[in-house]
Amino acid sequence: MHSKPIFIKHANQMITLKGSSAQPLTKEKMSELHIIEDGAVWIEEDIIKSAGTTAELEADYQSRLHDAEIIDASGKILLPGLVDPHTHLVYAGSREEEFNMRLNGATYMEIMNNGGGIHATTSMTRKASEEELVEASLVRLDRFLKHGVTTIEAKSGYGLDWETERKQLTAARKADELHPVDIIRTFMGAHAVPAEYKENPDAFVDLVIEEMLPKVAEEKLAVFNDIFCERGVFTPEQSRKLLEAGKKLGLIPKIHADEIEPYEGAELAAEVGAISADHLLRASDKGMEMMAEKGVIGVLLPGTAFFLMAEAARGRRMIDKGVPVALSTDCNPGSSPTCSMPFMMNLACMHMGLTPAEAITAATINAAHAINRAKDVGSIEAGKKADLLLLNVPNYMQMQYHYGMNHTDTVIKNGKVVVK
Ligand code: NIG
Ligand code: FE
Repeated sequence: MHSKPIFIKHANQMITLKGSSAQPLTKEKMSELHIIEDGAVWIEEDIIKSAGTTAELEADYQSRLHDAEIIDASGKILLPGLVDPHTHLVYAGSREEEFNMRLNGATYMEIMNNGGGIHATTSMTRKASEEELVEASLVRLDRFLKHGVTTIEAKSGYGLDWETERKQLTAARKADELHPVDIIRTFMGAHAVPAEYKENPDAFVDLVIEEMLPKVAEEKLAVFNDIFCERGVFTPEQSRKLLEAGKKLGLIPKIHADEIEPYEGAELAAEVGAISADHLLRASDKGMEMMAEKGVIGVLLPGTAFFLMAEAARGRRMIDKGVPVALSTDCNPGSSPTCSMPFMMNLACMHMGLTPAEAITAATINAAHAINRAKDVGSIEAGKKADLLLLNVPNYMQMQYHYGMNHTDTVIKNGKVVVK
């Protein structure tokens, strides 16, 4: 059955980010936005058919206007649906006790090394059924959608055994089928060394490489392959080995790099040709330069620094050095229990030195590039998916200026109004 076309008109500012589908944006290009005033979009089925000024589209579609569902966007801004390129969506339980411990002085790594942290979520996730994981994920997906997010990446990594890693990825696939938000899956079997392998982490890395990666590829459970490269977790050597092994099976490398300590993770990301290096709180200048050279996207997670009360990544410096920067929530139960991309955009301005325009680019088209989806989403252009976000502010700067509030007015996903 065909649905009515949707005509959105009179957007005060329509932020198109057009012409950016081939390459992630760097330097000055991150500020361009390509805004159309009094903007309009014509949507048919799940696709943007045309984007331009209201006058242009009213002329072009004159004979069909009576047939369309009209959305008047006067006084509001229209942007591409937000993209979150790094989440740990699928998990059981929560860890507010650890939050309390950290407020009393314990560190994230101390908690993890004492069997809490990722290990705590792993034992809860191992016990949960696939259905329970789907249910918990759907609740979070609703929260993402209400904050204007229409596509996310989601990682496994709370199983650390094949059965549970697989269960997380199949739960993500089911949640994707059941919910309007699109989910792109990442395998992260090497998220922590499980207690069973504490004395022999190399054997665990070999297990992931030999037993898990081939099944992930064969069952097409994930597009990307990620590892937590951090002192006390996995070394750069182990990370290189695992990411190279994934590449041979067609899994694209991603890496949790230089989050807690400098560990040459950014350098490694450039060397293995990762699509993105994520976190980068302690990335070196050399690592940034190597990433810029190779076009590795820096996925910055300002909520993690905020919630761990750590100094934020040097986003300004990365952009100035030519790294294409994207933003993400890192949604997870330990270091960033949030689904709010708009708050991440605000933090990126306040703590990383990004401008509101750069934050928008980082949360849309560059985020889409970080998960290889820029051909479909991340900008408002004819032929792209009709994933759109209408915000109740008159210009894009007010989105960041009025902080800590949800300005979502309407969300359109795959050509359907899903939040109103
Ligand atoms: O991206 N750094 C490692 N992994 C997650 C946190 C996972 C957790 O604490 O449950 C992160 O911050
Ligand atoms: Fe993460």
